[in-house]
Amino acid sequence: MTIDDPRHHGFALNNGDGEIPALGFGTLVSDSRKTRKATTAAVEVGFRHLDCAERYRNEAEVGAALKDLLTSGTVRREDLFVTTKLWNNNHRPERVKPALEASLRRLGLDSVDLYLVHTPFAFKPGDDQDPRHPHGAIVYDDGVTLEETWAAMEGVVDDGLSRAIGLSDIDVEGTREIIDTGRIKPAVVEVESHPYHPQWGLHQLCQTEGIVLLAFAPLGHALQPRLLDDPLIMEVSEQLRQTPAQVLLAWGIQRGTAVLTSSVTPARIAENADIDALPEDVIRTINELETRHRFNSVVDAGEPGFLEVPQGS
Ligand SMILES: NC(=O)c1ccc[n+]([C@@H]2O[C@H](COP(=O)([O-])OP(=O)(O)OC[C@H]3O[C@@H](n4cnc5c(N)ncnc54)[C@H](OP(=O)(O)O)[C@@H]3O)[C@@H](O)[C@H]2O)c1
Repeated sequence: MTIDDPRHHGFALNNGDGEIPALGFGTLVSDSRKTRKATTAAVEVGFRHLDCAERYRNEAEVGAALKDLLTSGTVRREDLFVTTKLWNNNHRPERVKPALEASLRRLGLDSVDLYLVHTPFAFKPGDDQDPRHPHGAIVYDDGVTLEETWAAMEGVVDDGLSRAIGLSDIDVEGTREIIDTGRIKPAVVEVESHPYHPQWGLHQLCQTEGIVLLAFAPLGHALQPRLLDDPLIMEVSEQLRQTPAQVLLAWGIQRGTAVLTSSVTPARIAENADIDALPEDVIRTINELETRHRFNSVVDAGEPGFLEVPQGS
């Protein structure tokens, strides 16, 4: 499928309930005190897809921005696609719906458009998002399986609290297991993905199953090795008179994934919303980049990668 207008593109959800906007704004911003301003700026420049999580501990700030934006008429609720995620300490089935209800209260919403299991790792159930043994290792929970958590996720769809459900920070095998055992197929799988970590295997599985692959860190989180300074990305961006960030976001969408970018810098937020299609041969050339690098370690053990060190936990 050719995508001519990546900025406004939407990918169909496999549950038949509309689309997810391909270009999303992530609310895990580098300075959480700037969440409200950044979220407001993102919606004002045209982002219609917001990615949140209880683990980001700033849903209330996102909610404050949403309240202003909805009250002022800047955007209508039905024109926004809002995602949030279940954290690892809430995997026990009886904790899933209350966790979503708490997120909804913080966000000031009646329902979300997408609820994701943030990682496949279950931590000790309780209010501590980061339970640790005295020697520092995470306290996992072997009393619940991902299948059991998924059944409770299906329940929140039945209850009308989320339009769609999905997975995050998971691999091909884990995704396939839920596809094979669940009643509701995941609509979205959110993972790190960019030219240095293209995840072609998961991409292929998602295409086959009608699942939307949602790429976080499409700019490589601006970390070293800097994807934004990659010689090929810079060459293409000069040729096309687009910025490296715009090239990377358009590439992500035109290869068939939704993307999530984040910034606290108003000019960058506007730049990231203003993307244009790349020629097909440029997509193919970027596909062939050989550098491989994964930036976020969350997939190893469920410990959040890009998060500020939590206080008091
Ligand atoms: N499921 C998960 O486990 C998971 C994990 C990580 C992230 N996520 C989601 O994915 C979202 C995006 O991830 P990410 O933060 O890694 O995205 P990213 O867009 O790859 O990286 C964001 C970084 O790039 C910088 N930046 C943004 N736009 C730029 C531009 N045009 N030029 C130069 N630098 C730019 C930002 O700096 P400034 O802010 O200083 O402008 C920030 O440091 C998160 O907010 C979160 O919602 C999910």
